[in-house]
Amino acid sequence: MTGWPEGVGRHVLEEIDSTNAEAARRAAAGEPAPCWILARRQTAGRGRMGRRWAMPDGNLAASLLIRPGCTPAEAARYSFLAALLVARLCDRLAPGATVSLKWPNDVLLNGAKVAGILLESGSAGQRVAWLALGIGVNLAHAPPSGAIREGGMAATSIAGEGGRAVAPEEALAHLAASFAELDALRAREGFAAIRRLWLARAARLGGPVTVHAADGAVNGVFEDVDLTGALVLRTSNGALRRIAAADIHFPD
Ligand code: BTN
Repeated sequence: MTGWPEGVGRHVLEEIDSTNAEAARRAAAGEPAPCWILARRQTAGRGRMGRRWAMPDGNLAASLLIRPGCTPAEAARYSFLAALLVARLCDRLAPGATVSLKWPNDVLLNGAKVAGILLESGSAGQRVAWLALGIGVNLAHAPPSGAIREGGMAATSIAGEGGRAVAPEEALAHLAASFAELDALRAREGFAAIRRLWLARAARLGGPVTVHAADGAVNGVFEDVDLTGALVLRTSNGALRRIAAADIHFPD
């Protein structure tokens, strides 16, 4: 692992409501990007779909603020890149464990959720002016079981799977270096390269999944992720259906 990437800001905060909220405030105040914001404690961590994100001490809560100037659809695909950053961190810290990626952006360690990713953005006209890649990694502790919603995935931590317990600052340095590398790959070769890396680690690719989309649940086989980042599902009548946003569940 090389040092902290050149030209990338780094802010370490003792306590904040949410690193994503802080990224939004800083974006509005003209903070130079890219920069990482790490908090040792979050008092109002945000999860996907308006849920809360519990953060026991010793875990990582960080947001990367970038100013991509791209379309909202292109910005959404950064979640695949963010998941790869965490996967690489898990490879490094828990080399004996199995790391896989659950569409759209969960990271699993030995089949349980070890991290969550939440993208939030602000736009100027048709373009994304700023994007916060919020990343929570259970370095030391899984959230208490009461914090896991009904039907939600079991959670784990890197330490809980026999991995090396590191300080959030050390984990952040890994994420920052990986982002610099993978974002350069994205800039050179486009999302296709990120998609390839993501698919190589996809959980249940080619297997049965249940997709809970806005219009209800549908069962099928997880065939692919396309170049827009949509999940491609083969339904029971053999038709392919593209799903841009949903939660997926794995049948036992
Ligand atoms: C999920 O629901 O799986 C996404 C959780 C994302 C949590 C991270 S912690 C750092 C950043 N700040 C937040 O308030 N949320 C994200």
